[in-house]
Amino acid sequence: MEKKLSRVANTFTPSPIQELSHLAQRCNAINLAEGFPDFPAAPAIKSAAVSAINSDFNQYRHVQGICELLARNAKEMYGLEVDPDTDIAICCGQTEAFAAAMFAIIDPGDEVVLFDPCYETYEGCIRLAGGIPVYVALEPPHWTLDAEKFMSSFTGRTKAVILNRFIHCVVFFWNNPTGKVFTWNELEIIAEACRSRDCLAVTDEVYEHITYDNVKHVTLSLLPGMQQRTIITSSVSKTFGVTGWRIGWAIANPIVASAIRNIHVKLTDSAPAPFQEAALTALSSGPDYFESLRRDYESKRDYSIQLLTGIGFQIRFKPQGSFFLFAELPESSPLSDVGASLALTDPKTKVAFLTLIIPCLLVLMVQVEYVKHLIEQAGVVAVPGRGFFHFNSVSSESEESLSACHDYQKRYIRFAFCKSSATLEAAAQGLSELVDTKGCLNLPPPCKTDT
Ligand SMILES: Cc1ncc(COP(=O)(O)O)c(C=O)c1O
Repeated sequence: MEKKLSRVANTFTPSPIQELSHLAQRCNAINLAEGFPDFPAAPAIKSAAVSAINSDFNQYRHVQGICELLARNAKEMYGLEVDPDTDIAICCGQTEAFAAAMFAIIDPGDEVVLFDPCYETYEGCIRLAGGIPVYVALEPPHWTLDAEKFMSSFTGRTKAVILNRFIHCVVFFWNNPTGKVFTWNELEIIAEACRSRDCLAVTDEVYEHITYDNVKHVTLSLLPGMQQRTIITSSVSKTFGVTGWRIGWAIANPIVASAIRNIHVKLTDSAPAPFQEAALTALSSGPDYFESLRRDYESKRDYSIQLLTGIGFQIRFKPQGSFFLFAELPESSPLSDVGASLALTDPKTKVAFLTLIIPCLLVLMVQVEYVKHLIEQAGVVAVPGRGFFHFNSVSSESEESLSACHDYQKRYIRFAFCKSSATLEAAAQGLSELVDTKGCLNLPPPCKTDT
């Protein structure tokens, strides 16, 4: 029956992370894996949704008021001029906005530059649209953008224009899994690349209101010449703790926004009507709401950092935004050795391809095992970090585009701290019971606590 499936559908297999979710459910584990809150949304927003249903906003619907509020907020927050009548497409969450944006701008064979590590959903959408993801690794531990590496990914593909491949756009995200917020300098590098190569940029700004330590989110559209070539995608999911409502949007120049709207109508017709109505209340929230959101998450971040570093994890980069910690296992952890013996370096042959890919898969499997132990013994579930790293697929310039499983990719685990204090304290309790006398999380394979 697989033969009946499309080529792209056959490449989408259930990830080991789904298996972990099932195990976590069976063990009733504390969920620090998934990026959604386990505490209630604001009462006013919930009442607005209930009242919308009771007022019979239960049919297909486009709520233009959302566009008016988004345009007003873009003006107030960033000084951006957005025309609510032409520049916005309301979609089912950032996820659909992003997918529709890919369908709107990607032709089969177009290449799309992404930064690595990144949120897993982008690649699937790019591939569904026939595009080819090209990853540019950010440099750990601070996940900095290496301008030369970034620009050379363009140069490589420019050559490939002869092979009918084009760098079409740069997908550009905030925060998940690392908590990084791009600096102004990095934004300038990206903007210059887009301008000089005549590329579009697609941004994911779902965490724009969740930043810490006085770091402010800046939208790429603000840089000279970028508003016309940037597609902003975002949603109410994270800001208002309502990931199940599926209200998101794309903001772009009128031609692209109209294409995204048309695709959205073909895919889903409209976002859920009652939640669009309730989004009017959410998007009208005053500065107090956003300030307390930031403050609450900042204190959860600090609590979680203390908890994890206290049991041996290393956090060399304190997240500046989002609600994830990308924590490294201690240097002494056996995971540091995984795959090292297999990571051969000659990328010129097919054999080398296997020697590059297989160690990465092996690392993922060992990390999955580690998280299984975490579930079974500490009653806590997190996400193996390897799943957020990617390899570039083999192209005509395979020597350049193959990327090995870098050493640093082996040791990350992602924890979500968008949870109630009670949940975080229960996780702390479960984890602390596994700490040995040397302060190391005692999970099999046992920590090699050097003496
Ligand atoms: C970076 C990022 N973008 C988008 C999403 C999904 O957003 P939405 O619920 O609006 O589809 C997530 C969810 O975890 C995310 O982390």
